Amino acid sequence: MKTNNSENRDRNIPFSKGKELIDRLAQEHSLTREEWTALIRGRTPELAEYLFEKARAVRIRHYGHDIYIRGLIEFTNYCRNDCYYCGIRKSNRNAVRYRLTKEQILSCCSKGYRLGFRTFVLQGGEDGWYTPERMTDIIAEIHASWPDCAITLSIGELSRAEYLQYFEAGADRFLLRHETFDADHYSRLHPPGLTAAHRQKCLWNLKEIGYQVGTGFMVGSPYQTAENLADDMLFLRKLNPHMVGIGPFIPHHDTPFAGKPAGTAELTLFMLGLIRLMIPRVLLPATTALGTILPDGRERGILAGANVVMPNLSPEQVRGNYLLYDNKLCTGDEAAESLQSLSRRMEAIGYRIAVSRGDSLNTDF
Ligand code: 5AD
Repeated sequence: MKTNNSENRDRNIPFSKGKELIDRLAQEHSLTREEWTALIRGRTPELAEYLFEKARAVRIRHYGHDIYIRGLIEFTNYCRNDCYYCGIRKSNRNAVRYRLTKEQILSCCSKGYRLGFRTFVLQGGEDGWYTPERMTDIIAEIHASWPDCAITLSIGELSRAEYLQYFEAGADRFLLRHETFDADHYSRLHPPGLTAAHRQKCLWNLKEIGYQVGTGFMVGSPYQTAENLADDMLFLRKLNPHMVGIGPFIPHHDTPFAGKPAGTAELTLFMLGLIRLMIPRVLLPATTALGTILPDGRERGILAGANVVMPNLSPEQVRGNYLLYDNKLCTGDEAAESLQSLSRRMEAIGYRIAVSRGDSLNTDF
């Protein structure tokens, strides 16, 4: 796989200048667009180390050495959308499609609960088979069966009324990455009809309803510039979400972006550190995509300021079919069954997995 080694990096800034920006970010939790751009574009390994140390300290101040876990249930890979980067896009005829029944989803939760998960994430493509009635029924039953658990939805762009209905049925949280803030960049990653404005409108609706909201973006997606990332940071500052999920773009061979270079772990880690300093109490996952491009990606993510991991709880027979990008991890320590092994890896770097809902402390808005 090609990676974009010098991805958005040139014009190194002197260490003293970069340090000053990082220090101010830690103090004031914001930078201007020009400052973000200069810091992202001019980053160096030395600055990254300085950043990670600060980010870890902030993370430990608020969340100690706890790592929150979420059981990820990928319940459908049917999708009405055709995003150019995504392996489960509608036009990919080679994707082996599946849907889980309510019973299968409940049995994932039951297994997850036994393993120690207290958050279930229902993630899927935008699949009309799950009508509001069916979805509400699933959410309500999980809520009634495991009242001490949080339910997170990650099912894309819906009407405000649907979001509200699911919230009232018992969903607590919603993950919807904004993908990229800039409207032009957004339109180069998505087919006509999907807009940055609508995506962002959904996020504001979710927040207003009362969901704990997670957003985020891909790092190193095709055509992304340092200015785009600066705009992403400014948007995050404004939205002030409870969680921010970021991971490197990784090409999928059956998509229009098959030949595009992947984003780097290096830039992803740097962005994680910046986000931790900008929104100190945010939940920050060390994502599967990061683990996919770097064998110790989870650890490195935690050491850059992340505090959440999301192992896969989907039934084993479908795991290999939820392929958003090539080589996506779904076995080994990525699998919920390997929690013990993941635990050991986290303990080896001085952290421990918490058995709790792991709610965000970023609630002051
Ligand atoms: N590489 C990395 N991340 C991807 N996603 C989708 N396709 C890819 C890819 N090729 C991410 C998107 C989406 C999330 C569920 O997965 O950011 O929001």
